[in-house]
Amino acid sequence: MSIKVNPLHPIFAAEIVGADLTQPPDDELVETVEDAMARYAVTIVRDANVSDEDHIRFSRAFGPLELPPSMGRKGPIKRRMAPQLFDASNLDENGEIIPYHSEKRKLARGAERFHTDSSFNALPTKWSLLLGHIIPPQGGDTHFIDTRAVYDALPDATRTKIEDLVAVHDFWRGRELVSGLTGVTDEMRATLPAAQHPLVRTLPYGRKALYLGGHAVGILGWPEEEALAFLAELYDFATQDRFVYIHKWKQGDLVIWDNRCTLHRATPLDTDEYKRDVRRTTINEYGPERSADPIAA
Ligand code: SIN
Repeated sequence: MSIKVNPLHPIFAAEIVGADLTQPPDDELVETVEDAMARYAVTIVRDANVSDEDHIRFSRAFGPLELPPSMGRKGPIKRRMAPQLFDASNLDENGEIIPYHSEKRKLARGAERFHTDSSFNALPTKWSLLLGHIIPPQGGDTHFIDTRAVYDALPDATRTKIEDLVAVHDFWRGRELVSGLTGVTDEMRATLPAAQHPLVRTLPYGRKALYLGGHAVGILGWPEEEALAFLAELYDFATQDRFVYIHKWKQGDLVIWDNRCTLHRATPLDTDEYKRDVRRTTINEYGPERSADPIAA
């Protein structure tokens, strides 16, 4: 079967059909995916019914993995999946549903605000690759924004104002602001310290993109209140419907997004009736292959 790329939205996002991820990816497939990602920024490989090991092998064809952080946990951690994968499911380590309104889900619910993965990592992120193992019959869509299109649509004066600004990205502060998380200790903060990144990123193929989202909590050299107000203004502009692609999952979808030029959010799955098992690899532009957590690394 030949590989086909079909656009899904007027601005960005496409699907790839006919790719076999149970085999090591050949040069043609790698080139097809790299080209589709440069053009569409979000690409869905359909019917990627593969194992964790195939998922990891395919991801590594495009960059070194970012490994999940320890989040301050000590000793061996019981997991349902390979240690290289981030668990974005609503399930605990035994495969049981974690109630939506429980404290345990509070941290994960921060993903319901538009964000870009691992912007709190000092290493430059490249893509995330999220595989749908169990998809609920309703709810659990993922929304995406093309922040290259957002950047292009900004007023000239705003583009000039942000050109050299550097944002501060902080996982814990972001969760405090977004989810009302409390009780974050110094030890927890030390597991994921803040990182700094330009507010405007230039992609390897030359286009510029606005780089912000739920982990962006400050602007270097600005008072916190002023920075948060300006970031909120940019966020409101970026999250207009015209920039959004809504992904309705099918089992076996491998959704790949470029973290450098997209924002995404999970929609609430608040019924506690359905399992949603989605597993993610995240890759960086370059290595070493390590966690964003300097303690675990
Ligand atoms: C994520 O934010 O990485 C996961 C998105 C989703 O679960 O839809």
